[in-house]
Amino acid sequence: MDYCKADIESILLTSGQISERLDELAHDISRDYNDKNPLVICILKGSVVFYGDLIRRLNCPIEMDFISVSSYGLSDRSSGAVKIKKDTDNCIAGRHVLIVEDIVDSGITISSLLELLKKRDPLSLKLVSLLDKPARRERDVSPDYTGFIIPDGFIVGYGLDYAERYRNLPYLGILSPAVYMKNK
Ligand code: IMP
Ligand code: MG
Repeated sequence: MDYCKADIESILLTSGQISERLDELAHDISRDYNDKNPLVICILKGSVVFYGDLIRRLNCPIEMDFISVSSYGLSDRSSGAVKIKKDTDNCIAGRHVLIVEDIVDSGITISSLLELLKKRDPLSLKLVSLLDKPARRERDVSPDYTGFIIPDGFIVGYGLDYAERYRNLPYLGILSPAVYMKNK
């Protein structure tokens, strides 16, 4: 993974550290959903890597589903609305639903998605997020399960991107500000 080394300021979490934490998360989730056959929903695309690693550690029956949302641009931030680009294949009414997110930053995206899904009458609705960046929170939302609480900074790798790049890095890195400053 040397091809983009110059763009990464430092490694925040190695694949080994991520793997250890996922074992713990999966243990808790398996215990809580043991007999619930949850619909585990991956938010595309950032959560794909986390999702794949997490579900393979779950020691209980689950069903998979995927959703893709786009947040509106900065000018629409106050509305906090999300647009569903690809909806789930399954109906979530009467189901135990676990949403899998990569990172909760301002919380605007996930809080409006949770509100929208709540209206569809799931039996329960919970959120697991690999990363939680509470410093920039604008909505009163916190994940039911959190991988890591991290400081402010732009994170890439392990599914997370900057301009669609870096998703395939096996670790989580802090993107060098020089990369996004030159695109401003
Ligand atoms: P929020 O609505 O501000 O909480 O932003 C949530 C979405 O923004 C996440 O699902 C990510 O797709 C993206 N995002 C926020 N912070 C970062 C980051 O540090 N790196 C990569 N993507 C991020
Ligand atoms: Mg995302």
